[in-house]
Parts: sequence; C-alpha cells; structure tokens
Amino acid sequence: MQHATQVELLKRTLALMEHGISDCAETPSSLSASTYLDEARFRRERDQILRREPLLVARSSEIPNGHFLTRDLLAPLLLTRDNDGQLRAFLNICKHRGTQLVSDLSGPNRVFVCPYHAWSYNPDGQLRGMPHAYGFEGIERGCLNLTEVPVAERWGAVWASHTPGPALDLDTFFGEQLLADFASFGVESHVVFDPRDITRPVNWKLTIDTFLENYHVQKAHQATIDHLFWPNLGLFERCGRHIRNYYVKRNLRDLLDQPESAWNLRLHGNLLYYLWPNTLVLVEPDHIDFTSVFPAGPLGTRVLSHTLLATEPASEKALRYFQKNNEILYNALEEDFGMAARVQAGIQAGASDRLWHGRFEPALKWFHQGLDTALGELSVSDVAGNH
Ligand code: FES
Ligand SMILES: [Fe+2]
Repeated sequence: MQHATQVELLKRTLALMEHGISDCAETPSSLSASTYLDEARFRRERDQILRREPLLVARSSEIPNGHFLTRDLLAPLLLTRDNDGQLRAFLNICKHRGTQLVSDLSGPNRVFVCPYHAWSYNPDGQLRGMPHAYGFEGIERGCLNLTEVPVAERWGAVWASHTPGPALDLDTFFGEQLLADFASFGVESHVVFDPRDITRPVNWKLTIDTFLENYHVQKAHQATIDHLFWPNLGLFERCGRHIRNYYVKRNLRDLLDQPESAWNLRLHGNLLYYLWPNTLVLVEPDHIDFTSVFPAGPLGTRVLSHTLLATEPASEKALRYFQKNNEILYNALEEDFGMAARVQAGIQAGASDRLWHGRFEPALKWFHQGLDTALGELSVSDVAGNH
C-alpha cells in the first residue's frame, strides 16, 4: 500500500484509539434471518450473482502454457492456455447431450474426447469431430463448440465468469483504490503456499460474515488470535462494491515512538479486503491469504483458500514458521465455522426474524446490501432514529 495511504489510515486509527470507539455506521442495522435459509434466495444469489460475476477460480501459475485445468465450482469449468500464453475458459460440458467433458484436474493440452459418444474438442473449444457425423447434418457447426466464458488475469490469479458474456474489464471491476493497493503488495511474484479446500454445513454468507467484523475476536477467538488484536477497533471502507477493513493490533501504540516515515501499516493490523462477490484477502505482515467462498447448496459452504508468500520458504525454519502461522489461521477459521454453525442452527430454530448489526459492523451491512442491490431485494434495514 502506498505510504501516504498507510499514514492516512494509521492516523485515523490512532484517533479512534484515543476515543476508544471503532469506525462506525450512523445507526445499527438489521438483516432478515431468512436470507440464510431461503432456498429460492440461495438460487438467485447463485444464478444471478455468483455465476455472472468474475470469480477467482485458480492461480495463474497453475496453468502453464500448453496446459489445461478443470474446476467444478458453480458449474464445471475447463481452462486452457495455448503455447502463446492465451488463456481461455469454457463450460466443461459436451455440447451433444451435456456430459461433463474432462475429468482430469490438469495436464498438457490435448484433444478432449467426451466419454459418452466420443465427440472431440480442441483446446480452443472448437468441435473437432464426431463419430457418424451424418446423423447431425443440418445443425450449424458453430453452435456445437464448447461454451466459452469470459476470463482474465490479475494479481497472479485467474478470474472467470460462469456465464457467457463480454470480455472482463478487471480494471473497472476492481477500481482505482484496490488496483493501487494490490500493485503495492506485488502479489504477481508471490508463490502459493498451503492451498486448502474445505466444505462445512453453513450458508456461504455466514462464512463471509465471519471475516467482515472484528467484534467477535475477543470472545470467539480467545484461544487463538485475540491476544494479537485490539478489542473491537477497526476501519471500514467501501471501495465500490468491494470493502476494505483494517483490524487493529494491540501493538498500535508502538507507532507513537516512530517517525511517520517509518510507519508500516501491515505491522500494526491486518487489512481485510472483501472482493465482490465472494473473495476475501487477508493482508498480514509477511504473507497474504486469499479465500474464495462458494455455496455448496443452500446450507453448505465450500472454501478454497491459499496463502501467498513473497518467496519460497528458504529453510526448514522458515517453512515451520509459515506452517505454524497457517495452523493458527485455520484453527481460527474453524472457530468461525463453529460460530457460523451455531448461527445456522439458531436461525433454523426460528427464534428471530431479524438479526442485528452493530454500528461497528458496517461491512456486514454493506455485504448484504450489495447482494440486495444486485437482486433488487431488501433484506437489510437501518435502524431509524438512533444517531
Ligand atoms: S454427450 Fe458428449 S458425445 Fe454424447
Ligand atoms: Fe473470526
């Protein structure tokens, strides 16, 4: 992050610390509990938002030139990169009768042959051949190519939509602030460490909720990370449809002994970015964690996450250090899943129609409002008259 931005954010943080009050919305707000239960709502979120927006589906380094990769997230995807480096993405579904085409997770590009009736496709998605082709005469050949979906790369990651449409404009999608912040992190040159694929029985939004506020850290994470963090002190900011939070650490006061020119924001708190609609990026002092959250049905979450390190761990000691770090991170994530499961059970019991977001939990409101706006619905309400 540019140093001037770091200083600005740290000054705001110090001012909040003086008053002992976190960055706040004007009023508390409330959320309809049904948003976590309603199966029709879940399908709208999946079909009208998640399948239409660019989602992080892979790291660029996972698809070298001349190779392919498959992913089954919200629909089966096939990603191919030709020998000149051009990346393409398709629905991994045969156009004959809809069979999932490629089963292998990755490999060198080849002719992809459907296991059902042996239609074959080139890595650029073109239908190459079909046995006994006379039976399909009269069908326009062009509509039998694989369905191509938009894909682009940014920050060493592959972003793809699950729905055909215009080319992705990721500069506009992420916006100036995030582009500037991420340029400073230099993530393109980072290496992937410790990828995980975790499924748990909670609505996908409950998983995202646990990242978006730091109010719960003092209680829910008292065994893991609470000792690091200033209780319930943070900055919250919207960046278009994305969100940037800063969760303050207990060592914040150390800044007061340093000249501004030496201030380093990453040493005194964690930045947490929510990238619309389902990715979270946690920026820690010496590594960055990417977490993409997918629904696994209405009451399930699948989390794909990985850590980025500036370089491969150069020694056993460095490796153990980062392993230990991730052990703490994933223990904390399990604590969050535990709480999310309790919420899921609680709302399923039907005790409350509405759930409450405190003034210092504005990112929860923004996340759910973002979904509401995209769907033209209203599950979030400000509490009136409480300034
Ligand atoms: S479904 Fe693929 S060839 Fe028939
Ligand atoms: Fe948490």
